[in-house]
Parts: sequence; structure tokens; C-alpha cells
Amino acid sequence: MMVNLMKPKDLNYPFSFENRQLLTRDFVFYIPPYLDCYSGYDAQLPLGSKPVFVEFCSGNGEWIIDKALKNPEIQFIAVEKMFLRVKKIFSKRENLEIRNLFIVCGDINLLLEHFLPKECVDTLAINFPDPWPKERHIKHRLFHKNFVEKVEGVLKEGGDLFLVTDDNGFSEWVKNAMNSSILSSHKPDLLEPIDSYGSSFFLRLWESKGKEIFYHHYKKGVYAGR
Ligand SMILES: C[S@@+](CC[C@H](N)C(=O)[O-])C[C@H]1O[C@@H](n2cnc3c(N)ncnc32)[C@H](O)[C@@H]1O
Repeated sequence: MMVNLMKPKDLNYPFSFENRQLLTRDFVFYIPPYLDCYSGYDAQLPLGSKPVFVEFCSGNGEWIIDKALKNPEIQFIAVEKMFLRVKKIFSKRENLEIRNLFIVCGDINLLLEHFLPKECVDTLAINFPDPWPKERHIKHRLFHKNFVEKVEGVLKEGGDLFLVTDDNGFSEWVKNAMNSSILSSHKPDLLEPIDSYGSSFFLRLWESKGKEIFYHHYKKGVYAGR
């Protein structure tokens, strides 16, 4: 029997730039940039009874798709601003008939600022965010004070934050930013690779080039024995 597989090209961006708007369709929440107003919209984020696991910077979705398949009792939310990559996450989700993965197509700062309520996330993972290594690009990096405060706010008590990067400078930047955070870190701050952490396009890419990978794990609340 022929099965019609969904292809990334089958998902079309739902509006032109001129007609951009907040929109939730087919379990994808679109947050376009440069809107006059981001308030008053019900994004229908799946923040119900299941534990909520969010991934920022999901790329092509490989990492979170695998997690969602293996953990049907958890609600996953992939956040990715590039529509070309959202299409790839979407087609994987449809073809594998994954029911516990919601997608946000938009900037994580807008999501944090306007749509994620306080204490709604059990686990937040950020895998290989752009490190913006040049001095003049520092303003684009994640883990500025405002970002850290927002993350502290959306995590539930006891919630986990994972951050993985191949960039030593960015790793130091994160450790520095997290020094004054209410989230506590595992000791040592930098972990060995976490068993069964999962794999992603960029993890394999950097490993194939022999790069060192830096794993960070923080928790809202204090680690036992810390
Ligand atoms: C280096 S890729 C890593 C992708 C994936 N996590 C992996 O490990 O293969 C970084 C991804 O983060 C996305 N990204 C960067 N800044 C973002 C932001 N502010 N909001 C949402 N996505 C963002 C980029 O579009 C890109 O797909």
C-alpha cells in the first residue's frame, strides 16, 4: 500500500509579511516579528496536566522528535524561529504520528516575554544555540540578565535547565550568567556527557569534527548535597 508521506515543502507559511499575525494552526503557534501588539491572544499552548518539556532552538527537530516518541506521557514544545526548519519538524511529527509535540515558530524571547506563564515548564533544554562569538555580536547571545530571569520565572520549582554547546567561550558566558541565578548548578558546573541525552544534527556535526562538547545542568531549587 502506498503511504503519502508529508514533506517539509507541504507546510506553507500561513500569511504574507504585510498580513502577519499571531496564529495557531495544526498545533503550530506562529509568532511573527515586529507586531504592534503581542497581548490578548490565546495561543492554545498545551500546558495542561502532563509534564511540560520545552526545547529552545530546535533546528530540524531531530532531538525533540526522538524524546517525544520515547516519552508519550510528556508534552513537548519545540521552539524554532526559522520557518524552513519548522517545516522539517512539522513533517517529521506528521509522518511519525506524534501527538505530544507542539511547535512554536518564532523567537524565544517573544515567547518568554508574552506567552509562557510563570512556573509552567518542567524541563527546558537548549541545544547548540548560536554562540555569537564575536565581541560586537554579544548583544545577540542568549543568557543576558533578562533572559535568565525569564527562564527562572517559567520553570516550575524543581524544574531543570539543560544547555549544551560546542563553544568554550559561550560555555563560560553561561556559567558566568548563571552565577547570580536562583537556579543552582550541579557540581561541577560542567557535566560529563549526560547518558541518553539524545543526539542532534549539530551534536553529530561537532563531534565529527572532534570538537569538545560542554554540558550544563541547572535546577530551580537546590540540588541534594550541594
Ligand atoms: C546551531 S542551530 C542548533 C539546532 C539544533 N538544536 C541542533 O542541535 O541541531 C541553532 C538554532 O537555533 C535557532 N534560533 C536561534 N536563535 C533563536 C531564537 N531567538 N528563537 C528561536 N530560535 C532561534 C536557529 O534558527 C537555529 O535553527
